Amino acid sequence: MPSHIISMRDFSRDEIDVILNRVKEFEPIARGKRSALLSGKLLATLFYEPSTRTRLSFETAMKRLGGEVIDLGALEASSVAKGETLADTIRVIGNYADAIVLRHPREGAARMAAEYSKIPIINAGDGAGHHPTQTLLDLYTIMRESNLSGLKIAIVGDLKYGRTVHSLAYALSLYHADMTLISPKQLVMPDTIKKDLKKQGAVISETSNIEDVIGDVDVLYVTRIQKERFPDPAEYQKVAGSYRITEELLKSARDNLIIMHPLPRVDEIDTSVDRTRYARYFEQSFYGVPVRMALLAIAMEAV
Ligand code: NCD
Repeated sequence: MPSHIISMRDFSRDEIDVILNRVKEFEPIARGKRSALLSGKLLATLFYEPSTRTRLSFETAMKRLGGEVIDLGALEASSVAKGETLADTIRVIGNYADAIVLRHPREGAARMAAEYSKIPIINAGDGAGHHPTQTLLDLYTIMRESNLSGLKIAIVGDLKYGRTVHSLAYALSLYHADMTLISPKQLVMPDTIKKDLKKQGAVISETSNIEDVIGDVDVLYVTRIQKERFPDPAEYQKVAGSYRITEELLKSARDNLIIMHPLPRVDEIDTSVDRTRYARYFEQSFYGVPVRMALLAIAMEAV
């Protein structure tokens, strides 16, 4: 098992299975059962970009396991505002905490941080790069709510800048999933990633039309257009609102379809879909807690 969690590319299928198979034992604790597994341990959360679920689910996971959390707080109130480099911050926090969860706008930041860190670095998103812990909770959601073997999945939205889908596609190729990538042509999955996926034997097809595949998939994974990554706001305006999942569209869906979304959603899933039997995005965000519990326990060598 890698000591840092930087990218799904660093994990074999066996290693992913070892993690996923541990998650179920943490579900009761995520629902409130007491545990002192990580008592005396300290997690540092360093978020240089906005976050709700990722930061709070790591915090929830740590606290419900009896551990404690320190955080950088508002960037303006930390030495980041004085110009401290990420490398120096990492070296310092390494003398305080037992593990670091890092979110940073620069692609590659987590990998760089790991080079300077004597404690485990957990990548909670590096720019448009990777988001491996989101992928682990996505895989766990599929395991619990659908089926990972023989999976047919459509991944919709911003496949260029979306780090969740980059990580997810790498992992799903290890499970031989049949993937359809759906995006506007400006936001297709980067060629380098597609090449890697094909090398791993992945079956992928591409389209810009959800209607083509909605009747033929087990999972519809919807993503937000990543407005903050567009160098030119005018380019964002051209693709904003490209997709909208509605009850009408779902009329041709399979009965067993589940809809996932890493959240936050903007307007890509109509709120009327929330009460259909297909919606699983809120369950998915709950599974983030037991998945992150398992990751913290493994990183802090408590299991
Ligand atoms: C995602 C992210 O930060 O990449 N959010 C999350 O962690 N659940 C997705 C997004 O912001 O669109």
